[in-house]
Amino acid sequence: MSSKIFSATTFGLDSQLIEVEADLIGEAAKFIIVGLPDLAIQEARERVRSAIKNSGLAFPRTKITVNLAPADFKKIGPGFDLPIALAVLIAKKSLILSPLDQQAVFVGELALNGDLRPINGVLSIALLVKEQKIKRLYLPKANASEANLIKGLEIYSLENLAQLLEHLKGKLLIKPLLGTDLQITATKNPAITFQKIKGQLQAKRALEICAAGNHNLLMNGPPGSGKTLLARSLAELLPPLTFEEALEVTKIYSVSGLLAQKQPLIMTRPFRSPHHTTSSIALVGGGSFPKPGEITLAHRGVLFLDELPEFPRTVLENLRQPVEDGVVTIARAAQTLQFPARFTLVAAANPCPCGYLTDAEKECKCTASQIFKYQKRISGPLLDRFDLQIEVPRLKFIDIGLTTTTSQIQYLLHNIHQARNLQLKRFKDNNLSNFYTNNEINSGNIEQLCPLDISGQQLLKQAMSKFHLSMRGYHKIIKVARTIADLATSKNIKTEHLAEALQFRIN
Ligand SMILES: Nc1ncnc2c1ncn2[C@@H]1O[C@H](COP(=O)(O)OP(=O)(O)OP(=O)(O)O)[C@@H](O)[C@H]1O
Ligand SMILES: [Mg+2]
Repeated sequence: MSSKIFSATTFGLDSQLIEVEADLIGEAAKFIIVGLPDLAIQEARERVRSAIKNSGLAFPRTKITVNLAPADFKKIGPGFDLPIALAVLIAKKSLILSPLDQQAVFVGELALNGDLRPINGVLSIALLVKEQKIKRLYLPKANASEANLIKGLEIYSLENLAQLLEHLKGKLLIKPLLGTDLQITATKNPAITFQKIKGQLQAKRALEICAAGNHNLLMNGPPGSGKTLLARSLAELLPPLTFEEALEVTKIYSVSGLLAQKQPLIMTRPFRSPHHTTSSIALVGGGSFPKPGEITLAHRGVLFLDELPEFPRTVLENLRQPVEDGVVTIARAAQTLQFPARFTLVAAANPCPCGYLTDAEKECKCTASQIFKYQKRISGPLLDRFDLQIEVPRLKFIDIGLTTTTSQIQYLLHNIHQARNLQLKRFKDNNLSNFYTNNEINSGNIEQLCPLDISGQQLLKQAMSKFHLSMRGYHKIIKVARTIADLATSKNIKTEHLAEALQFRIN
């Protein structure tokens, strides 16, 4: 007799429904799994055999063939252990499913004693189950809180195979979870690091603009001037995620296996700072079973590249397309995948190998060719993608007493939040509800969203010819000016806003 049961797996960030079929044929005691399984699924045979025996049932002594359909789709991970075990038991007539359970989706990794272990990507699977109008989802207990973010499903949280068998036989019923109404709880942000930074007023203003409009920032300066410290403090200025953004980010972390069980919904914006030895694949994503890279893990948050010139140029060049488009496209022979990558890019660099080229007092010890080689590591096109490029000079003794007061911080955080809300409202009024921040405005709708008056146009005309700005540079100045205007709750972009934006671009 053959049996069929539904399961699901992730591919990229999305999920796909998989049919798990089992058939008992022939005398020889063999267990075969077909349908492009990976090594982890092949090894399911041993786990399933032990788990069934240790759950008090006999394992069939005949030839078992398990097929995972669709057959031309590569399947990965140990999440098929549970559906394979059930399909085998149904084929052996040890179990009969009710019509509703025949339509249900089962996922979970089995331990040898029959306990269920969590799998990656459950949020994505739960979203698929809902989309397919399937009612029931059976999964390991450790994954339940994550799936429970999705309302409208019956989620059965399982400890082990024996418990599930009791339930399916109607002996000891498990009560399903029906989804929670989790709200983003905005915790009061004390911005401790930011508050401790002395002086550096221009850099602090740049961070404020970055946080408000999601603009890319490059900080250049001598060693020890506080670039790393400033970049790390940006995380404290970012407004909380909206619920939709939180779901997007949580899905990425769930698929990557980075979701903490205690915190099923990620509520704070990610801050990723990969080391300069990071490989291209680790940075942008990929691999034979494509996984999200650092730029996707930084989605809706910050990607901080410290010591930018130390990153290999080939690795950095991979950033050019995702920084522009907010997505990274990974092509494989079978399928093309897209991972979201809408992040604020923040980078820190020294101007030369010794670090003191731009220092007013300390002499630079590098030769012209050393400086040339060092600066060549960052390509012109990549530099052009930084909306704000600032100098972070060594702190003068006179500025050491200059700190930010708590009330100044509260005012700053309030302004950033307000500026983000103004942007959201503007996008909504213009039927662009998939836009969140000014940085996402593209050349197609910049004139509609950021109109300039005559004097503003004049100023930009002069700047373009004097500073040889690219068209991208021109657009970036307008977008940054839009954010500066939003921070000042000004409806129109005024010349003073453009002048400030220009000052951050050219120095
Ligand atoms: N403005 C500042 N206020 C308070 N502390 C500062 C400031 N600038 C630097 N520091 C302190 O000095 C140390 C060095 O700062 P940081 O690592 O940020 O420098 P950096 O500019 O990144 O240097 P490098 O170019 O060598 O990486 C840190 O311990 C930091 O806390
Ligand atoms: Mg540093």
